Amino acid sequence: MTATAIRQSRARQEELGQFFTAPPVAGFMASMFGPLPPVVRLLDAGAGAGALTLAFVDRCCEGGDGVRAIDATLYELDREVLESLNSTMRECQRRCTNAGIDFTFTIHSADFIREMSAALAGGLFGETPPVFDAAIANPPYRKISTDSPERRALRSVGVETSNLYTGFIALIQRLLVAAGQLVAITPRSFCNGPYFRPFRADLLRTLELRRLHVFESRQAAFREDNVLQENIIFHAVKGRRQPDEIVVSSSSGQSGDAVSESAVPFAEIVHPHDDEKFIHIPSDASHAIAKASLNGLSASLSSLGVTVSTGRVVDFRLKDSLCKEPMQGTVPLLYPCHFNGGTVHWPKPEARKPNAILDNEETRPWLVPSGMYLLTKRFTSKEERRRLVACLFDPDQVKAERIGFENHLNYFHANGQGLERNLAVGLFAFLNSTVVDQYFRRFSGHTQVNATDLRTLAYPDRDTLQAMGRAIGSLDLSQTEIDQLVTKHIHAC
Ligand SMILES: C[S@@+](CC[C@H](N)C(=O)[O-])C[C@H]1O[C@@H](n2cnc3c(N)ncnc32)[C@H](O)[C@@H]1O
Repeated sequence: MTATAIRQSRARQEELGQFFTAPPVAGFMASMFGPLPPVVRLLDAGAGAGALTLAFVDRCCEGGDGVRAIDATLYELDREVLESLNSTMRECQRRCTNAGIDFTFTIHSADFIREMSAALAGGLFGETPPVFDAAIANPPYRKISTDSPERRALRSVGVETSNLYTGFIALIQRLLVAAGQLVAITPRSFCNGPYFRPFRADLLRTLELRRLHVFESRQAAFREDNVLQENIIFHAVKGRRQPDEIVVSSSSGQSGDAVSESAVPFAEIVHPHDDEKFIHIPSDASHAIAKASLNGLSASLSSLGVTVSTGRVVDFRLKDSLCKEPMQGTVPLLYPCHFNGGTVHWPKPEARKPNAILDNEETRPWLVPSGMYLLTKRFTSKEERRRLVACLFDPDQVKAERIGFENHLNYFHANGQGLERNLAVGLFAFLNSTVVDQYFRRFSGHTQVNATDLRTLAYPDRDTLQAMGRAIGSLDLSQTEIDQLVTKHIHAC
């Protein structure tokens, strides 16, 4: 293939959100279904070359379920994979025949979102939507803009969502019969992303979660978008009563590796009074320890009188006011590149980012008064060891009347002003501790740290945070020193 052809095929794969499931993962997904009815109407939406239906067929051919017939419906938009899909379906037919199962299939070379939205909305000719006993899916992953045809189609059936994959799942759950089952592999972003809140509410209203599976290794089963995405597999059943407990399992994502699993109370997965409906996923022992360590914490950011906000300076909107170097009439502008261990290193003349912003009528609404602020990065690179990276902006180090915090960082403040010093230093230690990092990883499958996530975390009370702040002489602490200090104070409170 020429370089141009490769580029074109990659662009096309991106456009279609194409990402094929490896056979071991497909087999594992098929094994997650509960008991199946004797005749299964199966849906494979976004079927690709048919790996998931093949894995489902293999499971049924093992004979444990007593399945007598499978009627598979497959949707695939990409004409270039239809030949492979057809040949995989013929292979399914062959295997089923050998196992005494009747296998029929229909391939729709069509847009699943548009066809199913139309059918669910009543359709032009009032056709009734198909129904399914089981669905297995690795839906395409791509953002869909507000005015896209997909978004409009989904809206017509009351689904408001910003990604193709959540659109697929929202439609699939509507097409299942009562007690019908879904096993899907998707990015983990829906579990806690603020934009996925309506999707989570819809999902948890329609489907009962039975099992969640995560991959421990970030090398495995992830997709690259703007941010690193980890995948999760879930098994859910159409119904309205969440179980008391669900199975949470994890594996490294390599083929043939051990799967560890435990039963977790549903109330720990989705907290009963959480309006955000975050889906927390404890996946290994260190997460459980982190959770136990943080369980006793009762303060919230708002009870501490602290707010976290996203940096207000959106640089491309204020392009004309940005300056490479500080000069008369400017104030410091802080980016993540100014993070330097526990504090900020400013100015940084060698940085590609501007170091200053004009302080005038136009920019002032986006600036904050100088003070002690705690800063966290909103995006961490996959090389970074920690997901939460916090540092302190100390007004004694960077003298200025006002400061600009750029949009790629979050800043903690007290009603728009700086924080009291010991409280800020205590928060710095807490947020940089390993327990918080591990706790955070439980529900954040990507490298993005949203202000909402930081708002919903439980914090030590003010006295404990201030005591931690007082105990820290220099901010140049090792991870072990931070962890020892935080553990000592959390356990004492
Ligand atoms: C993530 S891939 C998964 C393929 C296959 N299920 C697997 O697991 O190997 C998603 C598939 O959905 C297809 N697709 C994307 N948009 C679609 C749409 N609107 N309707 C039907 N299929 C679509 C893509 O061409 C791609 O083959």
